[in-house]
Amino acid sequence: MKSLIKKLTAITGPSGYETNIRQVIRQEIEPIAAKNEWQIRVDALGNLIISTPPPKSDGAKIMLVAHMDEIGLMVTHVDDNGFARFTTIGGVRPLNCVGGHVRFLNGAAGVIGQENINQPNIAPTIEQMFIDLGFTSKTEMPIKVGDVAAFERPAIDLGKRMVAKAMDDRVGVAVMIEAMRRIKSTVNQIFFVFSAQEEVGVRGATTAAFGIEPDIGLAMDVTRTGDTPKGVKMEVWLGKGPAIKVRDSGMLADPRVVDIMVSTSNQLKIPYQMEVLESGGTDARAIQLSRAGVPAGCLSIPCRYIHSPSEMIDIDDVNHTLRLITALLQKPISF
Ligand code: CO
Ligand code: ZN
Repeated sequence: MKSLIKKLTAITGPSGYETNIRQVIRQEIEPIAAKNEWQIRVDALGNLIISTPPPKSDGAKIMLVAHMDEIGLMVTHVDDNGFARFTTIGGVRPLNCVGGHVRFLNGAAGVIGQENINQPNIAPTIEQMFIDLGFTSKTEMPIKVGDVAAFERPAIDLGKRMVAKAMDDRVGVAVMIEAMRRIKSTVNQIFFVFSAQEEVGVRGATTAAFGIEPDIGLAMDVTRTGDTPKGVKMEVWLGKGPAIKVRDSGMLADPRVVDIMVSTSNQLKIPYQMEVLESGGTDARAIQLSRAGVPAGCLSIPCRYIHSPSEMIDIDDVNHTLRLITALLQKPISF
């Protein structure tokens, strides 16, 4: 699992530019799909969708989604001296930018610098920063307006915990791939959706849900924790198990979906936490509000320092999430 997470987090794939990460995921899942005769397709927004055969009489159509995109940067202006100005793709915080290494889709690399370096204790705004690619004139620059980049930083293995950029939501992607490997037989029809453009407003999941018309929607994404010094007041800890979402700022999870996750955890003696997140949302919101509405919920993997280039997860949480989701997908679900 660790090596898969490491492999997935290393790929550059900001929202709307998921080609590379989709390719890597596809290589992982193609043998699994082929063995089970599951269908694979990519929709117009770039969601990668794998579907199992239609449900048995006591089964349901379940849409499970993990987003493959990550936050990133887009070039807005390149000046005559070779400095690139940028805007953000998704929730990039200025505090996490200065000194950051970035990698463009075409392979070009750079570092983020700031204006006003005589005021080192004041965090710059996005407008006061620039990407320095090591060139001295506009004509030499290997990038242009509209090109996109993401943070780059090697993953580190801390034993029980692991740190990488884009853990949001490549850790969810890793869990979904492993769940696909483990599923033997199920009464349900499962649509595994590796979604695009989550970080810019759950756009991929919106069209995927419309196309699939599921009976139940489930997202797997990261959630923040309240366990760091003077952290937010939040009852989620790293290492205390998957967090079953009750609400976030975009969704009130369907209580029946919450109950299924709670009862399955209890049956399997999997540790879990209840999550109330006061800011942030997931693809589950898009599913819940699609067409005439869908019962939806979210299983969250606790993560520290979300939307920084150093997002931390606990490997026990990952394994417990995997066990829970694998069991849940295989049991008959009816409301
Ligand atoms: Co995110
Ligand atoms: Zn996410």
